[in-house]
Amino acid sequence: MGKKFFIKTFGCQMNFNDSERIRGILRTLGYEPTDRWEEADLILLNTCTIREKPDQKVLSHIGEYKKIKEKNPNALIAVSGCLAQRAGWELVQKAPAIDIMFSSFNMHQLPELINQAQAGYKAVAILDAPPEDEDKVWDFPVERDNPFCAYVTIIKGCDKNCTYCVVPRTRGKERSRSLESILDEVRKLVDDGVREVHLLGQNVTAWGKDLEKPIPFSELLYEVSKIEGVERIRFTTGHPIDLTDDIIEAMADIPQVCNALHLPFQAGSNRILELMDRKYTKEFYLERISKLKETVPDIALSTDIIVGFPTETEEDFEHTLDVVRQVEFEQIFSFKFSPRPGTPAENMEGQVPDEVKTQRMSRLLELQKAIMSKLAKRYEGTVQEVLVEEIKEDRKAVGRTTTNRWATFTADPSLLGKIVKVKVQKATPFNLECELLEVVR
Ligand code: 5AD
Ligand code: SF4
Repeated sequence: MGKKFFIKTFGCQMNFNDSERIRGILRTLGYEPTDRWEEADLILLNTCTIREKPDQKVLSHIGEYKKIKEKNPNALIAVSGCLAQRAGWELVQKAPAIDIMFSSFNMHQLPELINQAQAGYKAVAILDAPPEDEDKVWDFPVERDNPFCAYVTIIKGCDKNCTYCVVPRTRGKERSRSLESILDEVRKLVDDGVREVHLLGQNVTAWGKDLEKPIPFSELLYEVSKIEGVERIRFTTGHPIDLTDDIIEAMADIPQVCNALHLPFQAGSNRILELMDRKYTKEFYLERISKLKETVPDIALSTDIIVGFPTETEEDFEHTLDVVRQVEFEQIFSFKFSPRPGTPAENMEGQVPDEVKTQRMSRLLELQKAIMSKLAKRYEGTVQEVLVEEIKEDRKAVGRTTTNRWATFTADPSLLGKIVKVKVQKATPFNLECELLEVVR
C-alpha cells in the first residue's frame, strides 16, 4: 500500500496555491491524497497567522491530529506556512507532536525534511530569509483543485510594512517571479485545459519593480493575454498606491481581464490610515475608485476593512462607513483588529475594547447587507458570460460571471469548462439564478 497524505489549509489564496504545490511535491514522492486524516501517513497543516483566531485553530487541530500516532506510530505531522515561519521552535515547544516544519520560503526542501523526520529527527527548517534556491519550487508539479481556473503565484512577499500586518515577517521582502517562468506556467496550464488564470501575490500590483530589468505589471497582463487559450485573467491582491493608471487602462483594454477588482482600503479615516502606514488618504483611494469606475464600466469591487484599530474613534469609524457607502462594494471582508506579535501596532496605546469592535463590525455588516441587496437587483434581466465550473447530476450548472458572482442554471454536462451566455432571472446577494442562452466558446 502506498503512503497517504492529508492536508489542511488555512488562510489566503496564496496559501491555497502553496498547498497545491505541496500536494504536487508529495505526489512526486509517491504519496496519495486522502480526505481522512485518520488514515494518513503524513498530516500537513499549512497555516496562517494573520489574526489570533487562525493561530488558535491550528493549535487545536494539532491537538486532534496527534492522536494518529497512537494508531500509526510512524505517521508524521508537518506544519508549514505563516504560523510556522512566525513562531518557529516556540510552536514545536507548544506542540511537540510536530515532526516537520517549514514555510513558504522552503517548500522545495520538503523531500529532504521528510527523510530527516523518518530517520527520527525533528525536521525544523525555519529560515530567517528566503534561500537562494527558492525558485526551485517552480520546477515541481502543481496539483490543482479546479480544472478550469488556476492560481499562478507571480510575486512573493510584501515591502509595505503596514503597522498591523505580520506578512512581511512571514513571507519576506517582495520577490517577483520572472516573466518567462510565469508565462511558461500559464502555457502549461492552458495546455492542460485551464481557461481562467488568477495571478496571485500579497501585492501583485508591485510585480516587476524588483526585476533586474523592471517591467510594469500592466505589461504582464498584456503578455498573459497573448497566450492562446487564456480566456480570463484575474489578479489579487493589489495595493491602492501601486494601482497606477496604466494598470486600470490595461484592465479596460484587455478583453480577458475580468470585470472585478479586490482593493483593500482597511480604514476610511486619514488619521488611522497614517497610523497604519498605508501611504494613501481616503481621498486618494476614492479617486482611484472613480478612475476605475469611469474606465472599466460595471466593475465589481471588493475590499478588506479592519475595524477597531488602536485609537479608532466613533468619528474615524464614520469615515470607514462613508467609504463603503460611496463605493458600493459587491463584497467586503471585514476583520476586528487583532494585535500580532512583533508588529508596531501590537502595543500601540489606545487599544479598542472588543465590545466596541463587535458593535462597529455589526454596523458595517448591516450597511453592507443593504448595499448587496441593491447591487444584486442590478443583475436581474441582464445577460452575463459565465465559465461553467461544475455540472451536478441533475444538470445543475455552476459558474462565475466575470464580476465574480456565482450563477446557477440548467445545462448539459458537455458544457463543462465552456464560456456561456446566460440571462439572470433572479438575483440574490450570493447567487444569480439564470437561464442558459448560448455557448460562446
Ligand atoms: N488584524 C485584523 N485584520 C488584519 N488583516 C491583516 N492584519 C490584520 C490584523 N492584525 C486583514 C487586512 C488584510 C486581510 C488579509 O487581513 O484587512 O487585507
Ligand atoms: Fe495568512 Fe497572510 Fe500568510 Fe496568507 S500571507 S497565510 S493571510 S498570514
